[in-house]
Amino acid sequence: MSQKLNVVILAAGKGKRMNSSLPKVLHPISNKPMLQHVIETAKQLSPQKLIVVYGHGGDVVQSKMQQIFTNNELLWALQDQQLGTGHAVKCALPLLDNEGMTLVLYGDVPLISVETLQSMLAKYNNNVVMLTDELVNPHGYGRVVRNENKQICAIVEEKDTTSEQKLIREINTGFYVFPNQNLAAWLNALSNDNSQGEYYLTDVVGLAHQQQMTIDYVKSPYSYEVMGVNNKLQLEELERIYHLNQANKLLESGVTLLDKSRIDLRGELTAGQDCVIDVNCVFSGKVILGNNVQIGAGCIISNATIADNVTIKSYSIIEDASIASGAQIGPYARLRPGAKLAANSHVGNFVEIKNSSVGVGSKVNHLTYIGDSEIGDKVNIGAGTVTCNYDGKNKFKTTIGNNVFIGSGSMLVAPVQIGDGALIGAGSVITKNAAENELTVARAKQVTINGWLTKNKK
Ligand code: UD1
Ligand code: MG
Repeated sequence: MSQKLNVVILAAGKGKRMNSSLPKVLHPISNKPMLQHVIETAKQLSPQKLIVVYGHGGDVVQSKMQQIFTNNELLWALQDQQLGTGHAVKCALPLLDNEGMTLVLYGDVPLISVETLQSMLAKYNNNVVMLTDELVNPHGYGRVVRNENKQICAIVEEKDTTSEQKLIREINTGFYVFPNQNLAAWLNALSNDNSQGEYYLTDVVGLAHQQQMTIDYVKSPYSYEVMGVNNKLQLEELERIYHLNQANKLLESGVTLLDKSRIDLRGELTAGQDCVIDVNCVFSGKVILGNNVQIGAGCIISNATIADNVTIKSYSIIEDASIASGAQIGPYARLRPGAKLAANSHVGNFVEIKNSSVGVGSKVNHLTYIGDSEIGDKVNIGAGTVTCNYDGKNKFKTTIGNNVFIGSGSMLVAPVQIGDGALIGAGSVITKNAAENELTVARAKQVTINGWLTKNKK
């Protein structure tokens, strides 16, 4: 395709039925504004110009998109009054190239695929190309009217249809490719003499036909690609479809999912061979799984790198962490940002680890907080250990050598260092460095007071 491509995304709609203060096109599908999905899809076509027509809540829409895309990627056209889809595209006219083609997309139709758009562009031959669909219940949509030669000659909006036209099941999805050479004249020729008093973009199709131009079409491969969002019910419907599509891709790539309808992929998940994911897991950000990773039910994982043969048991929460091969996590473990687990380490139930590394084969199995710490290899951290890293103002570091054994219920008051091979007696409050290869105990001595009970009993 050697011709110049302009893309116009209509995003001026109010979205009243969303019942929300957020402009409609900023409502998310899978954590990402609908408009962002559409822009990202459009960008894959490498257009010369990508124009967003904005209106209601425009400042918020603009500033949100400017945080995501660079300034030279997007052009903005204001439609201050919503006078119809034809008027909306007309607002972008001054920004369009004089030659080449314009593809019209919608900020509230987020699941259109790049493949479908490419097949429309492939049919373009200095004419109009529409994307159509065939629906069992076409009510509400513009109908595709064909002449006796089966050529498309017009689109009639539901409210303007005759009873005969209402029976047509071929509908206009609203996606088109137009030749820029003709577009300005067509848009300027539109009238709003119709049942809604709007300037219909659909009337351009009729005008093109009158000028003997062929109206070509592509049929939408999946109905969800052309489904728009007007309310929260439709938003939820597309959200589920989005995740199901992602889940299908994972299954095709060889990941085992116990129920593809109970997984949320809100970011990018890549997986090696023989990974198994149980139900109700949520993945966000960039998550990388090696081979043979087993993930139990209800885990929430974002931005993590998880190596081969790792097992993550149910209800574990992992964020900005890296886990080396053979490690075992959970159930109910929480790995916070900066948690680094070395090979074959174990982190068990009700253990929180933040900004800390756990060495090869080390175990932190029960009811423990590890923060701002470095733990060596083959260490055993007893149940209920707390690294006391915070004095209310500053954070301090705990360093634990190799082959250390920390008895249960110990408080390690940072900054503090525990030497290699040290043994800390259970219940110790360690405030000074502990020597290597020695037993250190820091707790009140146990006493038995003989006869006390008999004396105090009346
Ligand atoms: C439009 C089509 C209809 C098609 C349907 C598919 C027209 C006249 N009709 O109808 O044939 O079957 O889409 O969903 O085009 N918008 C603006 N500015 C405006 C008006 C609309 O930006 O002045 C945006 C809206 O935010 C929305 C989109 O354009 O994203 C479609 O507008 P809408 O009025 O919902 O079109 P429909 O009546 O659904
Ligand atoms: Mg309308």
